[in-house]
Formats: sequence, C-alpha cells, structure tokens
Amino acid sequence: MSISSYPALDPKEYGLPDTAELAALLAAYSPEFAPQSLLSGQSAPQEQGYTPKVVPHSARASTRGPDAGGLNPIPAAEAAPSAARIGNVPVETIRADFPILGEVVNGHRLVWFDNAATTQKPGAVIDRLTYYYSHENSNVHRGAHTLAARSTDAYEAARGKIARFIGAPGSDNIVFVRGTTEGINLVAQAYVKQYLRPGDEIILTLLEHHANIVPWQLLAQETGAELRAAPVDDSGQIILSGYAALFNARTRFVSAAHVSNALGTVAPVEEMIALAHSNGTRILIDGAQSVSHMPVNVSALDADFFVFSGHKIYGPTGIGALYGKKEVLDAARPYQGGGNMIADVTFAETVYHEAPTKFEAGTGNIAGAVGLGAALDYLSSIGMQHIDAYEQELLAYGTRALSAVPGLTLIGTAAHKASVLSFVLDGHDLEEISGRLSAAGIAVRAGHHCAQPILRRFGLEGTVRPSLAFYNTREEIDLLVDVVSSIAGAKAWA
Ligand code: ALA
Repeated sequence: MSISSYPALDPKEYGLPDTAELAALLAAYSPEFAPQSLLSGQSAPQEQGYTPKVVPHSARASTRGPDAGGLNPIPAAEAAPSAARIGNVPVETIRADFPILGEVVNGHRLVWFDNAATTQKPGAVIDRLTYYYSHENSNVHRGAHTLAARSTDAYEAARGKIARFIGAPGSDNIVFVRGTTEGINLVAQAYVKQYLRPGDEIILTLLEHHANIVPWQLLAQETGAELRAAPVDDSGQIILSGYAALFNARTRFVSAAHVSNALGTVAPVEEMIALAHSNGTRILIDGAQSVSHMPVNVSALDADFFVFSGHKIYGPTGIGALYGKKEVLDAARPYQGGGNMIADVTFAETVYHEAPTKFEAGTGNIAGAVGLGAALDYLSSIGMQHIDAYEQELLAYGTRALSAVPGLTLIGTAAHKASVLSFVLDGHDLEEISGRLSAAGIAVRAGHHCAQPILRRFGLEGTVRPSLAFYNTREEIDLLVDVVSSIAGAKAWA
C-alpha cells in the first residue's frame, strides 16, 4: 500500500481534537503561533521579556490520547490555586504556560513532582518545535538553500543562547550533545583518556549519578587508572577536607556533581574547583540537576567543563550541552568520526574543524537544540534568581511539612539543597508509597535514582523522591503530605 492510499485518520475516533478545535486550542494558548501565522511564513519567534500564554484548563485537559476515550473532566477537589509569585509573575500564570499541568491522571489533576527525572515543557518550547518543523526544517551547514540557512541560523542561535545562559565566553565553547551522559563520556574519551597511565587517579564524589561513575570506570578499565570518591557526611554534604586529601601526584582529573539527584545536596563546587586547580587538576561539573534551579555562571565558577541536559531544564529530550574552556576543547581529540565535523577528507588523512564542530559528527538534534534555546529564553524572561528564591522557599516548606509526618525520615539534610525531598517511611515500602501517590495523581520517582553509592552510604537501596520545579506550589505539597500522612496512619499535616 502506498502512503497516499492510507485513509485519513478521523481525529474523533481517537478522542483527538479535529482541525478546528486544534486551531482554537493553539490560538487560546499561543496566539502568535496560531495556525494562520504558521502558514504565513513569518520569521522565527523571539522571546522579548515574559509573555504569559494562558491556556484554559478545560481546553487543555480535553486533548486526550488515543486510549483515553474522550473528555476527562477535572474533579473539584484538587490543589487550590496558589497566590504565590515568582518575581512579579503569579505562579498560576506560569503554570498556565505548561499544557501538561492541566492533564488529568487517575481522576486527579496531575501534580508533577518528578522534575529531577525530567521537567515539563512550556508552550514556548512546544510552539518553537512546531515552528521549526513548519518553517525551518533542513539539515544544517550542508546546503546552500534557504531552509538550510534558516535551520543553521536557528541551531547556531540556540548555541549562543546556551553560552549566554551559563556565562560562557562564546558559542564556540558549547558542544551539542545528547545529554549529560554523552557529555561526560565525551570528556572521558576525548580529553582525559590521552593523559592517563596505569596507576593514575580520577577523583569523583560519593554523590555521583551513575552517569558520572560508569564512564570513568570504563576509562579506568581501559587505561589502568583508578577511581577515588570524596566522602560525604551524615547530612549528605561533601566533606571538603576528605576531598582535599584525595589529591596526590597521580591525580589527573576530577568530575563532580553540582547538585545530587538523589539527595538534592548542592555541593561546594566553588571550593572544589579551586582545590582542583590549586592541585594542577582540571575539573568537570555535572550540572544536570543544578542549571534548572539556580543561576549558573561557568566563567565565574572557573569550571573547565560543565555539562547539562535539555530535558531537565524544560527543553526537549535528546539534546544537551557541554561547555569547555577553549584550551581544553582544543586539546581534546574528536570523540566520534563522521560528516559535519571535518574540513577535508582523503583516504590518507582527515582535517577536522575547530571545536565545537569537531565533536559534532553526523546530523545532530537540530530541532531539540532550537527547542532548548526557547526554554532558556523562557527561563531568562522570568529570571533564574527569582526561580531560585521561589524554589528555595518551596523546598523549606516541603521539608518542614514532610518532617512532621510520623515515621518519615528525610534522606539528605544538607544546609544547602535544591529541589529534592528524598524520604523513607517506617513500615512502608517504596512501591506502596509511589503507587498510592500515583493513584492521587502525584508523580514521584521511587527507587535508587541511578545513584546507588550515595544511597548505600545511608544504608538504603532506595527512597521516594519528590523533586520540585518552579511551577509547583505549596498547595501541591499539601496534597503530597496528606497522602503520605494517610499512608503513615497519621492525621493529615496542617
Ligand atoms: N537522572 C534522572 C533522575 O535522577 C533520570 O531521575
């Protein structure tokens, strides 16, 4: 059967909106990208300051997937609207920018507390992806035609946005990668490997996600190098004196998390970077769990490498960024070979482009990069300092509320934390708690969070992990605590 002989889908059969409804929905939450403008060939959207995109909850919740069987009305008893503001923007206005927050799950409006695993996407990102595929889609760099120029401009503009967002000197310091994991593997294989001899040492910390352990283990097995892990105290904070004591003449590199995904600890990376440099060692900071919660300036930090994932900062999956100082990117060898990264190829030899292009073999996630740029524009229009302040207040509220639940132990109580409220509850296993929460429409992760060494430091194989973002509210935390309290058999926290 040829493609053209497939019958057209009837949207109603799948509970999906028809074209007219879709046009109304798009117009409701994003007038500038309503279908008429998509067809008009206007230039790519630019965020200029914060522009709320209000989607009526009733409209958003009615867009159901193929298996949902039509409309799914929002029940009355849900988190009350919040009166809080982020900077001068009401949090409810921001929540309305995120279509999925109107989703109904198990009969309840979704409460998304799984932000450390991935964040939800604002309309500005969804619209930007639609715009890209509607007006700009082409491969980059290769073609001398109009759409190739559009997509190349959009891709390179996104690189510039990332550089500005994290305070990098320029776009050439930013390598597009699939995410944090690929960025760390790139640094291990392309930069660190060439300096390693048997018996050399790489310093990590006990806080690391598996993505910042396994690539180094593979490298150690390959080269005969050894791994050292900086200790943490009972609050989950790095013991700086223990970290400092690990440096010796065999130390070749340090790779450390900025924020622990399992505990939320904000590591003292300023001191850790200074200590590494005073010992003549380069350092990578894993910013996967930090960059969405606080202002980050890689130049002020003086990090040699910094890496993060787009999907944890309200952008698409499958895209991330690796920052490197010019001298370390220049010293690194290409990680993968292929098209795009070369200046000239003969069967005798290949001449590579300069960084960052020499690390970007093959066709990258162009739309993802453009979407990530839109996410960073969106955050900048609100202000990371305002997001940080709001989330800190929310974290303190959640910490007080959960601490009052009988039998509940918070895992990770460092003085400086971000986003994460990991806990265990006496007499109740993780799956029971996450299952009960899910039944109430509340999404949390339960398990080892890809960070087994730090959980074993606390004698645990897993925790329940609510993790906060700036679209969450005190009212949603109250719902979480009500459910956890009822599991604990306690009176609901008030
Ligand atoms: N790194 C992600 C998490 O912590 C997947 O859940």
